[in-house]
Amino acid sequence: MQYPLLLLLLVTIILWLPPTSSLDATNSTTKKRREVISGRHAAVATDDGRCSRIGMHVLREGGHAVDASVAAALCLGVVSPASSGIGGGAFMLIRLASGEAQAFDMRETAPLLASENMYSSNTTLKGKGALSIAIPGELAGLHKAWKQYGRLPWKRLVSPAERLARLGFKISPYLNMQMRRTESGILADEGLRHVFTSNGSLLKTGETSRNWKLAQTLRDISNFGPRAFYNGSIGSKLVRDIHKVGGILTMKDLQNYRVKLSKPISYDTLGFKILAMPPPSGGPPMILMLNILSQYGNVSGVSDPLWVHREIESLKHVFAVRMNLGDPEFVNVTNVLADMLSPKFAEELKKTIYDNRTFDPSHYGGRWNQIHDHGTSHLSIIDNKQNAVSMTTTVNGYFGAQILSSSTGIILNNEMDDFSIPGNDSTVPPPAPPNFIRPGKRPLSSMTPTIVLKDEQLKAVVGASGGGMIIAATAQVLLNHFARGLDPLSSVMAPRVYHQLLPNVVQYENWTTVTGDHFEVPAQIRKALHKKGHVLDPLSGGSICQFIVQQIEALKNNGGTREIVAVSDPRKGGFSSGFCNWGVGLGTTELKLVIAFVPMLVFFPLVHS
Ligand SMILES: *[C@@H]1O[C@H](CO)[C@@H](O)[C@H](O)[C@H]1NC(C)=O
Ligand SMILES: *[C@@H]1O[C@H](CO)[C@@H](O)[C@H](O)[C@H]1NC(C)=O
Ligand SMILES: *[C@@H]1O[C@H](CO)[C@@H](O)[C@H](O)[C@H]1NC(C)=O
Ligand SMILES: *[C@@H]1O[C@H](CO)[C@@H](O)[C@H](O)[C@H]1NC(C)=O
Ligand SMILES: *[C@@H]1O[C@H](CO)[C@@H](O)[C@H](O)[C@H]1NC(C)=O
Ligand SMILES: *[C@@H]1O[C@H](CO)[C@@H](O)[C@H](O)[C@H]1NC(C)=O
Ligand SMILES: *[C@@H]1O[C@H](CO)[C@@H](O)[C@H](O)[C@H]1NC(C)=O
Ligand SMILES: *[C@@H]1O[C@H](CO)[C@@H](O)[C@H](O)[C@H]1NC(C)=O
Ligand SMILES: *[C@@H]1O[C@H](CO)[C@@H](O)[C@H](O)[C@H]1NC(C)=O
Repeated sequence: MQYPLLLLLLVTIILWLPPTSSLDATNSTTKKRREVISGRHAAVATDDGRCSRIGMHVLREGGHAVDASVAAALCLGVVSPASSGIGGGAFMLIRLASGEAQAFDMRETAPLLASENMYSSNTTLKGKGALSIAIPGELAGLHKAWKQYGRLPWKRLVSPAERLARLGFKISPYLNMQMRRTESGILADEGLRHVFTSNGSLLKTGETSRNWKLAQTLRDISNFGPRAFYNGSIGSKLVRDIHKVGGILTMKDLQNYRVKLSKPISYDTLGFKILAMPPPSGGPPMILMLNILSQYGNVSGVSDPLWVHREIESLKHVFAVRMNLGDPEFVNVTNVLADMLSPKFAEELKKTIYDNRTFDPSHYGGRWNQIHDHGTSHLSIIDNKQNAVSMTTTVNGYFGAQILSSSTGIILNNEMDDFSIPGNDSTVPPPAPPNFIRPGKRPLSSMTPTIVLKDEQLKAVVGASGGGMIIAATAQVLLNHFARGLDPLSSVMAPRVYHQLLPNVVQYENWTTVTGDHFEVPAQIRKALHKKGHVLDPLSGGSICQFIVQQIEALKNNGGTREIVAVSDPRKGGFSSGFCNWGVGLGTTELKLVIAFVPMLVFFPLVHS
């Protein structure tokens, strides 16, 4: 008679024990953060918790990871409009459960009327306003990926974003910070002013913003697909608005826009296979950084300051090489790409790194000046069938060109700023010809969506936002976890350093975020770097990373279940969302309650009969 009760007690106790996983955040101060979830079978990590949740609901309804990325990306375009939207472009990396992988290049493209000297060396014109707008690609790419892999109806994926735009959404602390930094631009543009101000001043955190026109646009897109945008009424309204402010985009530009599909770059390093976007993305530079650091072999005896020094020196080499890249349809990048993916090349570069000092930029052999790109938003997704999406999307600078098309509600990108332009000869070193403007060309990008495999099994999905700092951040997070053995949350939380060769300065995080977290590179590391000759500048900002890791080791013991840990970088205030296969959408706690109480209902009458 006592057996069922004892059994029940035992089951309850076991279920109540905390999940044990080597991947769990081990640091007690960071364990309880809502930015990290574990023990799920599917997860969505984005810059904004609202969009992670929308993506997760799509997965729960049986949607593919691609379905979730469409819904989440369109959501980000509404609630995080300073960083992304259908007026911008993106890179999307897909890896299916079957092992097939594909790269979608939906990056913005130079209009047909653009030309190498269209700015007469005026970098202000390139960076802001009507002439900085390139042909948007995000919507075309999302739709193409959905047509290929999507399982849920297109309308179902567009409607959450449409609803947010129509009913309004609360301004997040991060968006409010972006608005304050762009205040004069917002006040100067009628469209932006309409959506982001009230009574002449910026909306505050927590206040509601509505974008009726964007809601209408999204409704048309949900009914008619991207045709309405690239060859229909939305497109003609957009072109008209752009012309009114002096832009050169035409209907023909929109009609000609093409999403480019290719095989991802695949590279074995550190005992893993890295899948990354081909050029003009930040993928090859990021791989080169991993490549150089992997040449050092066993890292377990390396002190933190020395490790960080080597990371910085690798970055300086990476940025020297990367400006030889450009749009592969216009520039022959065969040789430079082969170098970046060559262990021998990395070994040669490593030989010129000294553990006791840094050098002037000329030491690293860079021939061209750097571009400094901005903005962006990243999402990482694994669905419960093991399909994965890593997508980075952007309008470039905060609020792109700082123009909102009044008749469509769409914020326009300033992606032309990512091209290099011929300067007045005073610039040393000169701008990079492989990245000069041509009609129909796509500018160089730092965006680095990445997928990691171990023995052909999905191991991690990662990527970051933050312009030129994306390459360093993605590599540092991967190295923290896969080379230095930090748990996923600590890998993301670790303070970061950035270097782009020019200027010859280490930017170290000293950042109190809008949500009150403080990230600061420890004094001991700064002191050691200073001694080696580095010039250090504090940085109150940087890159934001979305990192999902899958524990596949357990799969090998028969009967083991795979487990996902998803981390949204707290630096932007986002959080991730996920669910378990068996507990359709329930959190682990709810699940334990259900499992514990169902037997009780069954056994209780038995015991007392
Ligand atoms: C946990 O993380 C915090 C913040 O990153 C750090 O200050 C603390 O030293 C860490 N504790 C342990 C035990 O590692
Ligand atoms: C560059 O363009 C901006 C915007 O039109 C203008 O204000 C500025 O004077 C120009 N600079 C030069 C050097 O021509
Ligand atoms: C570049 O030089 C040209 C001619 O010397 C001059 O008109 C132009 O304003 C210069 N542009 C900038 C950005 O300095
Ligand atoms: C708008 O601003 C004016 C002048 O600052 C003020 O008098 C008025 O009360 C404000 N209206 C609202 C609705 O806040
Ligand atoms: C644009 O739409 C027209 C009909 O409205 C069609 O004939 C044409 O083929 C379309 N062009 C493209 C590029 O889709
Ligand atoms: C790395 O070196 C440490 C000692 O410094 C050693 O304990 C460890 O086994 C080594 N790891 C590998 C993979 O060789
Ligand atoms: C690109 O360069 C490589 C190496 O120099 C050469 O083999 C290849 O033919 C070139 N490709 C094109 C399309 O010119
Ligand atoms: C720095 O290291 C290099 C190579 O290991 C060595 O030749 C040089 O003497 C060192 N310089 C100093 C100042 O220690
Ligand atoms: C970090 O920033 C704070 C606030 O701006 C400043 O007071 C502090 O000195 C900075 N510390 C370092 C190491 O840069």
